[in-house]
Amino acid sequence: HSIADPAVVGIDASYKYFEDGLLVTENGRISAIGHASELLPSLAADVEVVHHKDALITPGFIDTHIHLPQTGMVGAYGEQLLDWLNTYTFPCESQFADKAHAEEVAGIFIKELLRNGTTTALVFGSVHPQSVDSFFEEAQKLDLRMIAGKVMMDRNAPDYLTDTAESSYLESKALIERWHGKGRLHYAVTPRFAPTSTPEQLTLAGQLLGEYPDLYMQTHISENLQEIQWVKELFPERKGYLDVYDHYQLLGERSVFAHGVHLCDDECARLAQTGSAVAFCPTSNFFLGSGLFNLPMAEKHNLNVGLGTDVGAGTSFSLLHTLNEAYKVMQLQGARLSPFKSLYLATLGGARALRLEDKIGTLQPGTDADFLVLDYNSTPLLSYRLKQANNIAETLFVLMTLGDDRTVLQTYAAGNLVHQR
Ligand code: GUN
Ligand code: ZN
Repeated sequence: HSIADPAVVGIDASYKYFEDGLLVTENGRISAIGHASELLPSLAADVEVVHHKDALITPGFIDTHIHLPQTGMVGAYGEQLLDWLNTYTFPCESQFADKAHAEEVAGIFIKELLRNGTTTALVFGSVHPQSVDSFFEEAQKLDLRMIAGKVMMDRNAPDYLTDTAESSYLESKALIERWHGKGRLHYAVTPRFAPTSTPEQLTLAGQLLGEYPDLYMQTHISENLQEIQWVKELFPERKGYLDVYDHYQLLGERSVFAHGVHLCDDECARLAQTGSAVAFCPTSNFFLGSGLFNLPMAEKHNLNVGLGTDVGAGTSFSLLHTLNEAYKVMQLQGARLSPFKSLYLATLGGARALRLEDKIGTLQPGTDADFLVLDYNSTPLLSYRLKQANNIAETLFVLMTLGDDRTVLQTYAAGNLVHQR
């Protein structure tokens, strides 16, 4: 597991690896981790021991940006962001007006997260409150640590999919009262992005954040050049895209901005200064032709970065697959992405972006028992390829290059087995 950011402490001090390791859990938490030879004798006689040969135990993966109501439209052909939203996304999200549809998709969506080893996600619902109810009802059954919010959107979208500044405020508030802090669930105030909210709605989003402790805020920023131009036209009085959100007091320690592909130096500095985080979504940025996220610039500013699948613009629920693409984003910019930085992004980095590092993202004793068993023999090619790997760095890198949902043999959440391949 990652214990620090390799960009800060160097690779060797950033992780712990036990070649023959033992993870001990009790009452939903991790109680010990170490070398099997040292820990085994300390276990009580009645403790059940499970041995996984040719496998790697890691923390559960953390997806810091994904859309529940876009599950049914992954891989929609031919458009970039703004046309993609109008042509495919809005019609697909409109189906969530029907609670039965929302429940069906929430079930499929959560199964897919767990099949891919994602134990925590920061999730966009649709504009309909029942999208969030359906998601949280399902997450609660499995005692998952999840964050979600109803989209706020009161302009520049079809009438059938818009709320008003006032209704979005009241509906968000009701969801917060119902779900925020219940078990392992948290609420995120969710203005879709600056172009689909009036100044009145953004004002109320900022107001909500001040009304309850530890609320999250999620939105999109600087994903696409036409989008950025549009924000300039809609908010001519603001210095730039980030300044719109800053003006409405939407930056802060629990604020996560998706994409940030075209952020400038000053904007990265301001995000870092306010403790905000960015979700890096490589499969989406490739699929919509949005551009290449500049991770080294974010690192220079000590900006918190998590990894996002951004399904349905993203093309996979798998954070392993997402890391495969993240590596290529760095290659195209003449930079590297070490397997230990990748592990960090998918686990502890995501936890830090969400301010949950004392609960998830590592295998430290005292944290939630959210962890995975990754199978070295999940495909014939992976099995053969890993036999040529000489150390854990190579093994990890190959898992991220060839791995996918098949690699996730088991997913545990709060100590419970919630997926078995
Ligand atoms: N910007 C505003 N809405 C969306 C969305 O649903 N997906 C992506 N990728 N970008 C957005
Ligand atoms: Zn998105």
